[in-house]
Amino acid sequence: MHTIVLATQKGGSGKSTLAIGLAVAARQAGYSVRLIETDPQGTLSNWQRRRSDAEPVVEPIYHASDIEPRLKMLADGGLQLAIVDTAAGLSATTTAAIRHADLCLIPARPSITDIEATTSTLSVARAWRRPFSFVLNQTPIRGQRIDNATDRLAEEAALDLADVLARPLIAMRNDHQDSLAAGLAVGEFAPNGKSASELRELWRWIESRLNLSAATGLSIAEEFPAATDMLPAVAALSSGDTTRPS
Ligand SMILES: Nc1ncnc2c1ncn2[C@@H]1O[C@H](COP(=O)(O)OP(=O)(O)O)[C@@H](O)[C@H]1O
Ligand SMILES: [Mg+2]
Repeated sequence: MHTIVLATQKGGSGKSTLAIGLAVAARQAGYSVRLIETDPQGTLSNWQRRRSDAEPVVEPIYHASDIEPRLKMLADGGLQLAIVDTAAGLSATTTAAIRHADLCLIPARPSITDIEATTSTLSVARAWRRPFSFVLNQTPIRGQRIDNATDRLAEEAALDLADVLARPLIAMRNDHQDSLAAGLAVGEFAPNGKSASELRELWRWIESRLNLSAATGLSIAEEFPAATDMLPAVAALSSGDTTRPS
């Protein structure tokens, strides 16, 4: 099983929206997916109540000590992907989730306050040596603002942006809000729209970041044991060790 955690201190940056959009994109790509809600605000549970499809199941886990055993049970049960949505701020539950993340996704709007608010999440991901990537969300369709934001994120991470900025950037569009209001994800609400296409592409980017094979859901390490030797070097790069092999 692979665990993706969406976390950043700032509310409104798109953690819940992206968790839902990615869960449905991954399901449409053939993965078994569970959405884990750790935010007592209940955005995901409320969304599921508006929905007729029982999948993806939303499972609330509000206590930090429940995260590890529950993720282990899901993995033992054969689940392929757990997507964990977290509350704004940095709670013990969020830290526990990040600790077990195969990838920590840090959403940020292209604003200085959102970008500054990524620092504490970044510190936790680095402390536990967990891979992380920024997702720039609610970007204007074009503009200087995006270039400034990406430069700033590169400074924060002190890494080459290609490693840590997820692609594509997710533009600000009404269908994100409209789909959630209808108990859907963008990929269901407007499957042929640009937002749905961006979310599908973002899922494919994550797949390659996680070394997932779409066909089997196995990691490269599972499929090709020899590749395991290469993984520590890749992990070092993405966990904040700025000394690169030459
Ligand atoms: N790409 C986007 N375009 C338009 N609206 C968005 C986008 N992403 C998120 N939103 C909206 O922004 C608000 C905050 O998003 P949300 O996912 O609830 O953030 P968080 O979970 O980080 O607090 C919601 O109303 C959501 O519909
Ligand atoms: Mg939320």
